[in-house]
Amino acid sequence: GKQSGDDRSSTTGADENASSKHAGITLTLLFAAFAAVTGTSFHFGYASGIMNAPQDVIQAFINESSHQRSQNSYLSESTITLIFSFAVSIFAVGGIIGGLFGYFITDRFGRKGGMLLNNIVSSIACILMFISKPLCTYELLIIGRFFIGVACGYGSSVAPTYINEISPKQLRGTLGVIFQLGVVLFIFVSQAVSLYPILGSESKWHYALGLPIVFSIVQVVSLMFVPESPKYLLLKKDNIEQAEKALKWLRQHSDLQHELDEIRDEETHQEKSVRWIDLFRTPIVRWVLFITIFLQLSQQLSGINAVFYYSTVILQSAGFNKQAAEYANLGLGGANIFVTVLSIFLMDRLGRRLLHLIGIGGMFITSIVLFISLMIPSTAVWNKISLIATFLFVAFFAVGPGSIPWLITSELFNQAYRVPASSIAVLVNWSANFAVGLGFKPLFTGVLDKYTFLLFTGFLLVFFLLTFLFVPETKAKTVDEIYTEVNTGQVWRRSHSKHCNDRATTDDDHGIGHDNIM
Ligand code: GLC
Repeated sequence: GKQSGDDRSSTTGADENASSKHAGITLTLLFAAFAAVTGTSFHFGYASGIMNAPQDVIQAFINESSHQRSQNSYLSESTITLIFSFAVSIFAVGGIIGGLFGYFITDRFGRKGGMLLNNIVSSIACILMFISKPLCTYELLIIGRFFIGVACGYGSSVAPTYINEISPKQLRGTLGVIFQLGVVLFIFVSQAVSLYPILGSESKWHYALGLPIVFSIVQVVSLMFVPESPKYLLLKKDNIEQAEKALKWLRQHSDLQHELDEIRDEETHQEKSVRWIDLFRTPIVRWVLFITIFLQLSQQLSGINAVFYYSTVILQSAGFNKQAAEYANLGLGGANIFVTVLSIFLMDRLGRRLLHLIGIGGMFITSIVLFISLMIPSTAVWNKISLIATFLFVAFFAVGPGSIPWLITSELFNQAYRVPASSIAVLVNWSANFAVGLGFKPLFTGVLDKYTFLLFTGFLLVFFLLTFLFVPETKAKTVDEIYTEVNTGQVWRRSHSKHCNDRATTDDDHGIGHDNIM
């Protein structure tokens, strides 16, 4: 059965009531979460989808711009494709860099400060991409794609951190999904905006690439009304007055003592700034870092982006014509949004563990169906089955694997470790994204052919098992409570040896220093 938390926790029954009495969503809290996602996940989704539809038009521009400058003959088809693919994928390289090095910024300038500064990078990126056409210089497009990647990589670390830190613990899941909702909404918006009759034509595509400067402006303006993370103010800046003020604004009441105590409980009595290397020093921290890393990998190696980047190719090879496949692609984006919205209501009810298991398990099964439908000669019935399987694949992704890796990273680490850990999470996520984006097409059209999908099936099986065995439930728990659960082996309801229980409940260093793991 469930073991009680340890005696370090200040949470008593009465306190619990006091905190849940005020656990509701306030408009100010929602506004702060909105402010955090506008300049981050909106850019992330939009930049992921914007280069798809206008591929031909942009390739023609690359050719023309090189021709005009060198007065030479035109570039070869393969060189143009190479330059275009480079412009697409350098986005992820920027993402890796932004995520990795951004943590110095988040530490030094704060979460809100970091987000504000990030808008300088994203605005410059939008301007570069926009002026590449009038200046007839495709290199500016490439540099712009790199910088928008930097901004998005940094955004995918700082925004989930901020949202986690401003949320009452009972609402961390609900609000955490908003980041992923921003991504999926703006993948869809970018697909619509870049259609030929809208902004996808020869004369207008650069407007489509410059347009997201609006997201940065909206974020700068809305952040002006929003406070810095109370946890950052209290634990990093020791500014109790500002922290209380921020919390009061977010909660819209003044009964804050319990929550302030809980925040203080997160302090590790360690150095206020930890470095990456410190993540590997303490066994429990090393262990949850491992969990974070495989959750990030489970998101990307599920093959979701193979479907999003190449659904047209996949569905064509299952027997659809190009136009039908393109419409299906838009439909997939819609399904992704719909289920992500549903998951907002489930996240703090069913918890991360169950939703991630349902998501990964469902993707595993539908990937097998998809594989079979690719292998079997196309018939009307199997066409329908492959289409349904593709939709279910995306729907299961949106149930959990889409949002959980982004939000759980901040939940698994306490204050000092949160930011460096999330920079590693971003590094892993974007590297895997990059690898799938680059590797899928050559494999699918080459050596592995239709068996490529089995690769994802295999990964999904492994990640299902790892999740089942090791991912703790984080719903409405403090980091201390999560670590106790990890240490006592309650993750999959297996009662551990007495030795483990004793160790976990007598340590008095707030979850740091347990050495009975690994
Ligand atoms: C997640 C992934 C991203 C993917 C998106 C699709 O945000 O990190 O790579 O494109 O979901 O919904």
